[in-house]
Amino acid sequence: MTAVLDTPLTRLTGVRHPVVQTGMGWVAGPRLVSAVANAGGLGVLASATMTHAELATAIRAVRERTDAPFGVNLRADAADADERVALLIREGVRVASFALAPRRELIARLKDAGVVVIPSVGARRHAEKVAAWGADAVLVQGGEGGGHTGPVATTLLLPQVVDAVDVPVVAAGGFFDGRGLAAALAYGAAGVAMGTRFLLTADSPVPEAVKRVYLGAAETVVTRQVDGMPHRVLRSDLVDGLERAGRVSGLARALRNAAAFRRLSGLSWRAMLTDGRAMRRGRDLSWSQVIMAGNTPMLLRAAMVDGRPDLGVMASGQAVAVLDDLPSCADLIDRIVTDAVRAIERQAALLRPDAS
Ligand SMILES: Cc1cc2nc3c(=O)[nH]c(=O)nc-3n(C[C@H](O)[C@H](O)[C@H](O)COP(=O)(O)O)c2cc1C
Repeated sequence: MTAVLDTPLTRLTGVRHPVVQTGMGWVAGPRLVSAVANAGGLGVLASATMTHAELATAIRAVRERTDAPFGVNLRADAADADERVALLIREGVRVASFALAPRRELIARLKDAGVVVIPSVGARRHAEKVAAWGADAVLVQGGEGGGHTGPVATTLLLPQVVDAVDVPVVAAGGFFDGRGLAAALAYGAAGVAMGTRFLLTADSPVPEAVKRVYLGAAETVVTRQVDGMPHRVLRSDLVDGLERAGRVSGLARALRNAAAFRRLSGLSWRAMLTDGRAMRRGRDLSWSQVIMAGNTPMLLRAAMVDGRPDLGVMASGQAVAVLDDLPSCADLIDRIVTDAVRAIERQAALLRPDAS
């Protein structure tokens, strides 16, 4: 590497490279996160699919494998968000990343404890709100991205958010290579965050059979039939079936999945109901949408843990269509930063003194 990229994100979080691996349920566990951290990126553990005990164990497992900083992703609307924040503080986690906007008090508690707070947003006004509440940076995800996603493309959302807030902005949605990183920096971002690209690495724990399905995939769709919210996933027979299914059979499936997740997570029905109520308020959802939300963890798990692409949904960004390898995180991050530096040098070489 001829040069490194020193940005507000690397300075804020203490990582070497401005490259973030996002929190992906069932995927972003200790193995992937520590591989990213050891490669100089910011790895983020996904905690929504973990119990408190599992999260504490996962944090310690990352620590055993790396001395580098890393983060934990939390669901801002989870009923137990306060306890999870306390756990992060107790365990000395460096960065708290949030799916959706966290409450102002949560941001304040984390910041008082010296934790860097980076909420994910999909709209300019959400970025403005969390920046005003004291977030240290925002991660903005454009519509190309995998998982829950909004309708506005990264190329339009990113410049809007960069102009709207004074804190560092991390660009997500559709990034996979060094040119993308250079372009994000040109837009004024402080780095990029990637989900799909890190899912497709040798260090990702996703079963080989499922990785092969991703590598062969050309098409993603945005469906509301998984959990009532727009969700970008690989097109599959299962997803086509969900799209065709009627409302009643859709809700019945969601209830079965919610029951299965309850058994797996050890949550009581009462805790799940409290969670549902918080979700309804936080995201403005109907009860049927809340019930549908029971689908996400189980349908993702069927693919990501059990290795059954036929029985599960495979969240994925549009970038999947251009990915055809499974590099190690070390090789991937090295390649991305080296190529970004080259791209920036090529751009700089276009400059001539204006002789007119
Ligand atoms: C398999 C998968 C699971 C995901 N799970 C979560 C999650 O649990 N929480 C979350 O905030 N985002 C989740 N996401 C979204 C990613 O964190 C990230 O924002 C997105 O993948 C970025 O777009 P990209 O895929 O184009 O890189 C998931 C994405 C994928 C592909």
